[in-house]
Amino acid sequence: MSEASVLRAGFPLLAANPGLHYLDSAATAQIHRAALDAVVCHETLSRANVLRGSHRLAEAADQAFDAARRRVARFLNANSAEEVIFTSGATAALNLVAHAFGATLRPGDRVLISQAEHHSNFVPWQMLRDRAGIELDLLPVTASGELDPAALPRLLSARTRLVAVTQCSNVTGAWTDVAAIVAAARRVGAKVLLDGAQAVQHGPQDVRALGIDFYAFSGHKCFGPGGVGVLWGKAEVLAALPPFLGGGGMIDEVAPQRSTWAELPRRFEAGTPPIAQAVGLASALDWMMALDWTDIHARETRLGAQAIEGLLRIPGVRLLGPAGTAARAPIISFDIAGLHPHDVCQVLDHHQLALRGGHHCAQPLLAALGVDACARASFALYNDEADVAALIDGVAAAVRTLA
Ligand code: ALA
Repeated sequence: MSEASVLRAGFPLLAANPGLHYLDSAATAQIHRAALDAVVCHETLSRANVLRGSHRLAEAADQAFDAARRRVARFLNANSAEEVIFTSGATAALNLVAHAFGATLRPGDRVLISQAEHHSNFVPWQMLRDRAGIELDLLPVTASGELDPAALPRLLSARTRLVAVTQCSNVTGAWTDVAAIVAAARRVGAKVLLDGAQAVQHGPQDVRALGIDFYAFSGHKCFGPGGVGVLWGKAEVLAALPPFLGGGGMIDEVAPQRSTWAELPRRFEAGTPPIAQAVGLASALDWMMALDWTDIHARETRLGAQAIEGLLRIPGVRLLGPAGTAARAPIISFDIAGLHPHDVCQVLDHHQLALRGGHHCAQPLLAALGVDACARASFALYNDEADVAALIDGVAAAVRTLA
């Protein structure tokens, strides 16, 4: 059995559908059995609310939730578990920063994002600009959709308070040169936020080595359950921010006229958090941490290269993003002259190929690349050569059927 088949066997949906070529992991990766079992086990044996009860189930839930936070902190190599805030997903994490950090900004302060951002790291900043009177700057992309570091010096100034960029594009797979971004941001005293939504399924992260202030990701993109995400923030940065959502759990004391706030991390977790989902996410991350990522990266890179080579042999196919695989995750978007990606993806579905087609919630990036929509094949650790071969045959068949 190949390494990918062994890994694939741990994913109940893939195990139940041996003929399926699942190439949509950038939208949602499949859930690993360890995460699913942890959710079922928690809901069956320890389901109770957290931070509110003193009965034994409540204590078991508290312990599981606290442990989940420590396990996420380990995956991120965070300094402490209090730096980990559970949210409903990456979008909620990014909105949390736009509100809480945004509340510390003054009219005329500046936030720099890039043209390659997913809408979830674009729209919250436009909304902040409109309500707070800040200026929003846009780092352009190169012809291949990569962030253009050459434009940084003219876009950064002493008024830049935050640089918020993707770690890896959900359209082109291009990896951001984080070190260059952090160095430039630090020169003007700006904080740095990384949207790690597409990076986390490709291995454990090290927020300290990255040198950033905020990191956001979703559980459903790293083999965990949906409905849970994480905002990591440096403790001293988070501690200086006001809360975003108000409600139970995030207070120290509520008096009729005024309330005071809990310490980290509870200040940013109003209401009942996604408890079982956090436990499931922690189990997915533990499972990931036990894997050999050198091997997995080599396979993912090889599959990406084979897919690019095979797709480019099909007449009319144009690749979006970096030409090779060195600077990209295995996320391959392509355009076929004269064909709409929705039609292409529908034909591919008949060939048991699951791909996303559309604007990928990244319309500014697609505009820069000169398309309204494209098809996207995204590979994860459970994919293998058979998936690449099926993709190439399927796209060739789509071209024959639709052209
Ligand atoms: N962000 C997800 C994607 O790129 C939904 O498809």
